[in-house]
Amino acid sequence: MASGGRPERQAPPEIFYNEDEAKKYSSNTRMIEIQSQLSERALELLRLPDEPCFILDVGCGSGLSGETVTEQGHYWVGIDISSHMLGVAVDREVEGDLIEGDMGYGIPFRPGTFDGVISISALQWLCNADKKYHHPPKRLLKFFTTLYAAVTRGGKAVFQLYPENSSQLELITQQAMKAGWTGGLVVDYPNSTKAKKMFLCLFAGGQPQQLPKGLGEGDSVSSHASFTDKRERMKNMRGKNPKSNRDWILAKKERRRRQGKEVRGHSKYTGRKRKDRF
Ligand SMILES: C[S@@+](CC[C@H](N)C(=O)[O-])C[C@H]1O[C@@H](n2cnc3c(N)ncnc32)[C@H](O)[C@@H]1O
Repeated sequence: MASGGRPERQAPPEIFYNEDEAKKYSSNTRMIEIQSQLSERALELLRLPDEPCFILDVGCGSGLSGETVTEQGHYWVGIDISSHMLGVAVDREVEGDLIEGDMGYGIPFRPGTFDGVISISALQWLCNADKKYHHPPKRLLKFFTTLYAAVTRGGKAVFQLYPENSSQLELITQQAMKAGWTGGLVVDYPNSTKAKKMFLCLFAGGQPQQLPKGLGEGDSVSSHASFTDKRERMKNMRGKNPKSNRDWILAKKERRRRQGKEVRGHSKYTGRKRKDRF
């Protein structure tokens, strides 16, 4: 999507999704079809147990994503900043309960309320500073921290999102990790400009989980990237000095060589583990 045409560039969400836009959005058959497909995929990635679950839909808008949750036999609550989008959801008599609120202020629910979270085409809005006092990193951290608390231990969250660039994606994943989430990015159809879709799949505590594969993955393209939280990474590294790692040393030598610096050659002893010396 060209950045000029991005809704996030045009106005704050509560203004962009005004009465007209809210009506247009939810009566556009193409839009309904796309949002339903994205929601189905998000629910698939959420891998809920085969029983009714309680789901939070972040940026639920007019309830298109929520309707898919209902169709799959789950209960949901939606939060959205736009009163007009929520108004359309009420008119459409969606099954979920609706709350008007800004996710950047945090998720106002008791600890452990939800079994899972979905969010369709909404999270990238948090990267914008629409008010003077908005600080996107702080808002993202507040959001992810309070969301972490609001799900059950081992709960999951799947965000379909449209980051504007790689720095936005990095900021979002960094703040999620800081808040304690683990997980990573699943990219469907990574080689297609049109069909490519990104899903940030997050886990709250519990056993480390493997990320599902992206759809339409070619052999040559890695379409998911996972991260663990910092504590977990440090635990995995315990006993290993990252700087004595052979690969790390070889990569550094190569970098210096490319910079035109003089670098000693390497041998089978490069990066070997030495006996402790005093
Ligand atoms: C593209 S719409 C998607 C709506 C819905 N998820 C769907 O699939 O149809 C994005 C929604 O995110 C909401 N949103 C944007 N920023 C928000 C914020 N800070 N807090 C809560 N909702 C927000 C907008 O009001 C809008 O309804």
